[in-house]
Amino acid sequence: MQNKVKLITGACGEIGQALIKKFSKEHVITIDLNKISSSYSNHRHFVGSILDNDLLDEINNQYQIDEIYHLAAVLSTKAEQNPQLAHDVNVNGTNNLYTLSLYQIKKYNQPLMFFFPSSIAIYNLIDNNTLDKVHENQYCHNPYTVYGQSKLLCEKNGINYAKSINNFDFRCIRFPGIISSETMPSGGTSDYASEIIHAAINNNEYSCFVKDETKLPFIVMPDAILAIIKLINVRKNQLNQHIYNITSFSPTAQDLINKMKEYNSNFNINFSIDNDRQNIVDSWPNDIDDLLARNDWGWEALYNFNNAFSNYLIPNLYKKYNIKRNV
Ligand code: SER
Repeated sequence: MQNKVKLITGACGEIGQALIKKFSKEHVITIDLNKISSSYSNHRHFVGSILDNDLLDEINNQYQIDEIYHLAAVLSTKAEQNPQLAHDVNVNGTNNLYTLSLYQIKKYNQPLMFFFPSSIAIYNLIDNNTLDKVHENQYCHNPYTVYGQSKLLCEKNGINYAKSINNFDFRCIRFPGIISSETMPSGGTSDYASEIIHAAINNNEYSCFVKDETKLPFIVMPDAILAIIKLINVRKNQLNQHIYNITSFSPTAQDLINKMKEYNSNFNINFSIDNDRQNIVDSWPNDIDDLLARNDWGWEALYNFNNAFSNYLIPNLYKKYNIKRNV
């Protein structure tokens, strides 16, 4: 009998790369449009698309899957520029993964845990400039972006399958922006945060595409991975819902710039506002309420705004860009 495997889609993306490292000792198969750079002995990578049903059939025939981490998606900025592609990948691609899950459940009559990363992009506060932390049930009826709409639709489909199919264990986190010291995001709108931080260490210039007062919730990558691992390891009967907000800190773009000036006093910022991207971030909440995740599965970020920089980002960025500290 072959081992059960975990399937990760979008494996070459930022979360995918971090999750593969975390699962380096486990049996993992991955899909991505790109070749993968890291590989472990228990890991087989398929270069291909989640829209390719032959590929998904091949995987269904060859493996018993007990966990799916469906990370493949077109992010918010790119999705606005190419809505058809975004709909295909984000909605039809996710439906293909749901279908694969149902085949697996039928074939093996075993539970299958499906992890789906959703986003603060499902909220739309464009006409509601609240300063309150946004709860899971608020402001989520009409997302501003194609990306947000597709995430919300897939959340609903996942919940519906979970309600009608006993062995389909659907778990979802609505992520804030994620900042990694190792990788750079692409195609998203919260990308300005990572771009400011990497630019300040790597060179002395950055042209920021959102206004200085723009404020969004963020976490750093180790906390994103911690949250996924915590959520999937909790017993199903402890979970009171399928969807959870998580967050840590909510800096303005100017807060990020000021913080990076502590490490590079020559860091030069100019602002060249991209109105389309500004409108996208203006529709997202400044802060979100993660009390349900704290109560149900003990979520707590390891990193706050200050120690995210001092203990994680800055030391790792110095290493990554081979920079000697002036201490
Ligand atoms: N960080 C993503 C983006 O900016 C949202 O989930 O598109």
